[in-house]
Amino acid sequence: MSEKHEELMRRHFRAAAGQRGFTVDPAQQPAVDRLSRLAGELARAGGLFHRRPPGSLYVWGPVGRGKSWLVDTFFEGLPTTRKRRLHFHDFFRRLHDGVGRPADGPVHASAVDRAVAELLGDCRVLVFDEFHAHDAGDAMLVARLFRTLLERRVTLVTTSNYPPAGLMPDPLYHHLFEPTIRLIEQRMEVLDVSGPVDFRRLPHQAEGGRRFASGARLPAGTLPPGLAAPEPGEAVAVAAHLRTLPARAARGELVWFGFRELCEDRTSVPDYLALAERFGTVVLDGVPPLAACTADGRQRFANLVDVCCDRDVRLFLIGADPLSGLPADSALLRDLDRTASRLAMLR
Ligand SMILES: Nc1ncnc2c1ncn2[C@@H]1O[C@H](COP(=O)(O)OP(=O)(O)OP(=O)(O)O)[C@@H](O)[C@H]1O
Ligand SMILES: [Mg+2]
Repeated sequence: MSEKHEELMRRHFRAAAGQRGFTVDPAQQPAVDRLSRLAGELARAGGLFHRRPPGSLYVWGPVGRGKSWLVDTFFEGLPTTRKRRLHFHDFFRRLHDGVGRPADGPVHASAVDRAVAELLGDCRVLVFDEFHAHDAGDAMLVARLFRTLLERRVTLVTTSNYPPAGLMPDPLYHHLFEPTIRLIEQRMEVLDVSGPVDFRRLPHQAEGGRRFASGARLPAGTLPPGLAAPEPGEAVAVAAHLRTLPARAARGELVWFGFRELCEDRTSVPDYLALAERFGTVVLDGVPPLAACTADGRQRFANLVDVCCDRDVRLFLIGADPLSGLPADSALLRDLDRTASRLAMLR
C-alpha cells in the first residue's frame, strides 16, 4: 500500500515536470526520491495501526534550484486533506493575527502555542516554504513553532536558502537561534538541493505560463502593453492590512502604485499579502536603483517581489533597473540574491 503511494508520487513528479516542459534535474532526483518515500510513509502511518508519524525534511539550496516546485508538487500530490502549505511571510502574518498582540507588547509563548495550534488544526503534514529567520522576534516565534510541531507529531517539510547551521546569519542574534538549529539537526533529515543551475535564469522561464513571469521590467517613461498612464482622478485609497494605501489607480484586478508609497512609506508584508489576495496585477512606477534606497525600502521591495512571485501576481516595474549600480562584491548584492533570481523571470 505504501509502495503504491510512493510510486504514485514519483509519477506525479514526472507528470508535473512534463506539464511545465522540463524533466527532473539530477540534482533534484534525491529530493524526488525522498519525498516520494515520504508519501509512502505517510500513507502507512495513516493506516489502521497509527504508527509513529514519519520524520520531517529540511530541503535547502541556493535560489532557483526548484525547491518550492519540489515541495509544492509533493503537497499537491498528497492524497489527504489533513495537509497545509504555508509560505514564510504568510505564517508570520497569521501568527501575529492569531496572537493579537498589542502594538509593541511582547508576544507570550502560550499565545504563540495557541495560535500555532489554531493554524495547524488537525493537519498531519505541514509544508513550510522559504523558511528563514532574521531577527530576535523571528527566532522566538520559529523556536515555538518547531517545538509545537515536534510535540504534536506533525510531519514538517521546509525549504530554505540556508543550511540549518547558517540560519539567522546575523552574528548579533545567531546564538539565540542555536537551540533551534540543534533541534532541526537532531529531528529533521537535511536534503541539499544545490545543483549548478538557477532555473529562473533559463530563457524559457520567461514564458513559463505563470502570471508572475508574464510581468515585465520597463524603462522610465514607458507603459505596460495596452495600459494608459493613471489620470490624477484615478487616485484611490486601496484597502490593505488594517489600513488603506494610496494607489495611483485601481482598475478591476489591476492596481498601480508609486514606488515611494508602496516601498518607502511604512508598509509591511501583510499589506502586500492583502493586495495579492485582491489583485492579479501590480504596476509599480518610479522604481529607483536599489543602491539609492533606504535599507528598509530595499527590504520592502524584496518582500513585495517575494509575495508577488509566491502568489503568482503579475508584476510590472517601471523605472531604473533595481539591481543596477551595486558593486559586484557588495554584501547588498548577496542579500538581494533571491530578488535578483525572481526578477530574472520578468521580461
Ligand atoms: N528541473 C527543472 N528544470 C527547469 N525548470 C525547473 C526545474 N525545476 C524547477 N524549475 C522551475 O524553476 C523555477 C524556480 O523554481 P523554484 O521557485 O522552485 O526555486 P527555489 O529553489 O524555491 O528558489 P528560491 O530559493 O529562490 O525560493 C520555477 O519556475 C520552477 O518551475
Ligand atoms: Mg522557493
